[in-house]
Amino acid sequence: MDQIKILGKKSLSGSVRISGAKNAVLPIMTAALMAEGESVITRVPDLRDTRTMIRLMEVVGAKCSFNKNTLKIQSDSVDNPEAPYDLVKTMRASFYVLGPLLARFGTVKVSLPGGCAWGPRPVDFHLKGLEALGARITLRNGYILAEANRLKGTNINFKFPSVGATGNIVMAASTADGRTIIENAATEPEIVQLCDYLNLMGAHINGIGTQKIVIDGVESLYPANIDIIPDRIEAGTFLVAGALLGKITLEDVNEKHLEAILLKLQKVGSTISTTSDSITIERGENIRAVDMTTSVYPGFATDLQAQWVALMSLAEGASTITDTVYYDRFSHVPELNRFGANIKVKNNVAFVKGVKELVGAPVMSTDIRASASLILAGLAASGETNVSRIYHIDRGYEKIEKKFQDLGADIERI
Ligand code: EPU
Repeated sequence: MDQIKILGKKSLSGSVRISGAKNAVLPIMTAALMAEGESVITRVPDLRDTRTMIRLMEVVGAKCSFNKNTLKIQSDSVDNPEAPYDLVKTMRASFYVLGPLLARFGTVKVSLPGGCAWGPRPVDFHLKGLEALGARITLRNGYILAEANRLKGTNINFKFPSVGATGNIVMAASTADGRTIIENAATEPEIVQLCDYLNLMGAHINGIGTQKIVIDGVESLYPANIDIIPDRIEAGTFLVAGALLGKITLEDVNEKHLEAILLKLQKVGSTISTTSDSITIERGENIRAVDMTTSVYPGFATDLQAQWVALMSLAEGASTITDTVYYDRFSHVPELNRFGANIKVKNNVAFVKGVKELVGAPVMSTDIRASASLILAGLAASGETNVSRIYHIDRGYEKIEKKFQDLGADIERI
C-alpha cells in the first residue's frame, strides 16, 4: 500500500494553486441528476471522492466523462435510483443522491451510512426533512427506502444547521409542489454554490447564504454548467503549512471564505497579505499559542481543526482546541503525540502544550483531515516520517505531495 515519506524541516516557498472544492462538487454532481440532458462542471478536483461519486453516477445510469478537471454528466439515461452499500460505506456524501433521485423518480433506495472514524454521524435531519416534505421512509436490510408521488412544500427547522441535510432538502424541495422554508439552514459556501447551481437549473431559491432559505418549487429543472469554487479546506491546510514553514502564496483562492482562520493565523504571528484571488502567508519568528473553537460557517471550520492542533503542537505555550461540530474528532491526536507532541484530549477539547521540536515517526492516517495534520507535522518535524493509509488523503487533496514538492518540501509517495 502507498505511503508518503517526508524528510522534514525544509523551509517552504513559492506558490500553490488551490483546487476546486470537494464538498461543493459532490452535491452539485447529484443535483445534475435531477435534469435530463448534459451538465458540464469545471474545476472539478481529481480526488478519490470525486471518482467514487462518478462511479455512483454510473450505477444510477448517468454517463460521465472526466478529463482535465472537466466533468460532463449526461443524465438522460438515469434509471436506477439506488445507492449501494459498497459505495456509501466508502463515502458518506453518497447520501446526497437521496433528495435528487426521490424528487425525479418518486422513489429511491440508499444504503444507510454507518458511523465513521470519529463517531455516529446520524442522518436523522435528512430523513425528518424528507418526511416533512411528504416522503414515506422505511428502513430495510440496511437501506433507506424513500417514496413520494410529488413532494409538497413545507416548513422545516433544523436543530443544528447541518450541511448535508440542508443540501438534500434544498434539492428535494426544488421541484416540490409549493413553498418550502428551511430555518436554521447551513450557510457554508459549498451550500451557497449548490443553491446557485440549482437556480441556474431553473429552481427558485431565495435567502441563499442566510439561515432562512426559501424554495418555491418548480415543475422541472434543466441542465446547467458551473465552475466549482476554490477549496477553502485545502487552502486552510496550505496556510497552516506557511505558518509552520516559510512563505507561501495561495493562488485562485477566495479570502472571504477563510476569514476565521486568517484572523487566527495573524494572532499566531504570521504575516498575511491578499490580492483579489491570492493570499500570501509568511511565518513569524515565533509561533504563538492561540485557542480555537470550531463552529459552523463563518466560524472556524471543523475540517481545519486537526491541522490547527498540528500547528499548536509547535507553538510557544499552551492552547485549547474545542470542536463543537463533532465531539469525537481527535483520532489525529495519538498519532501527533508519536512525533513528540504533548496533547491530551478530554471530551471535545484538546489541550496542547507546545514543544520545541517534533521528531519524524511512522504514523497512520485515520481520515482525510487527520492525514493532512500528519503531513503538516511530518513537514515540520526533524528526520523521516512515513504516513501510511494515505488513501484517506487522496479522498480530499489533489496531488498533495506534488504541491508540497513544488514548494520545496522533501516529500514523496512510495
Ligand atoms: N447531524 C445530526 N443529524 C443529521 C445530520 C447531522 O445530528 O441528520 C449532526 C452531525 O452529527 C454533526 C453536525 O450535525 O455533529 C454537523 O454535521 P453536518 O451534517 O453539517 O455534516 P455533513 O454534511 O455530514 C459536511 C462535510 C464534512 C464537514 C461537515 C461539517 C461534505 C461532503 N462533508 O458533512 O466534511 O466536516 O459538513 O462542516 O460536505 C471533510 O471534508 O473531511 C468532511 C468531513
